Amino acid sequence: MKIIAVMSPKGGIGKTTSADSIAYILGEELKKRVLIIEGDQQGDTSDTYGCYEPEGIGMSELLEKHVSVGGSFHTTDTIKATRFTHIDMIPANGYLMQTDMNLLMKSEDNQIFRLRDALGEVTDAYDYCICDCGRLFDMVVINILMAAGLVIVPIKVGGYEVRAIMNMAEQIEELKQIHPALRIKALLTMRQKNKTSLEFEDWLKNTSGFDVFSTTIRRSVIAERAAIEARPLPEFSPKCIASKDYRDVVAELVEELEEGEGRDV
Ligand SMILES: Nc1ncnc2c1ncn2[C@@H]1O[C@H](COP(=O)(O)OP(=O)(O)O)[C@@H](O)[C@H]1O
Ligand SMILES: [Mg+2]
Repeated sequence: MKIIAVMSPKGGIGKTTSADSIAYILGEELKKRVLIIEGDQQGDTSDTYGCYEPEGIGMSELLEKHVSVGGSFHTTDTIKATRFTHIDMIPANGYLMQTDMNLLMKSEDNQIFRLRDALGEVTDAYDYCICDCGRLFDMVVINILMAAGLVIVPIKVGGYEVRAIMNMAEQIEELKQIHPALRIKALLTMRQKNKTSLEFEDWLKNTSGFDVFSTTIRRSVIAERAAIEARPLPEFSPKCIASKDYRDVVAELVEELEEGEGRDV
């Protein structure tokens, strides 16, 4: 199972849309077995996949009450089927913020590896695990980053974006000291065809030194409508330009992760 996190310290830049779309295309279009993990207290991805229950079982139980830490939950007990055949999910519930605090207060050394250890149980059951993150480096997100091999960092063109990716890169460098295989790849989102946008894209791809997806996601008002309807964008509108772009991103991912000498992330 290849574990991919979608994370950025900025809000509203397409983390959830990217995670949901990539998961949908991998699962429903390419027929890969996909597990989605919700690492954001806001629960947008859980909502989109119809799995949000304020008092339901999900990430909190997985991180706090798994059998490996003396609890009674196996990983499979926290997984829900979605309405899509190839996609399951571990949703957020209303306790995720409390879970962050609870993990923070613990001093056991596995506190940041709980997700990684718990996912070991289902590693042969799925091809991909896509994790949507909130914008804070809280304990839930750190658990996700410690389990992941690749972090996709969506970037929207704008004044503070450079700082956001620099900040993300610094944090990942720190985390690499305990998880050396971790790497980040930027994904430009919400592109509009204007000079500033195109110059920024050129800088990011050719000068910045960051690993960047060749595909850039174009801005599309349909993405907003899909979010309002709480549906994965490529399901809501398979032909919209942003859905097409996400398909190209997934093709890049699959080529890199499956056709490149079997590297596991
Ligand atoms: N390519 C796009 N074009 C236009 N709007 C987009 C695009 N991607 C996302 N959006 C919209 O931007 C808002 C924030 O996106 P979201 O994925 O929720 O960001 P985040 O998870 O980073 O907070 C949502 O309303 C979403 O529908
Ligand atoms: Mg989000």
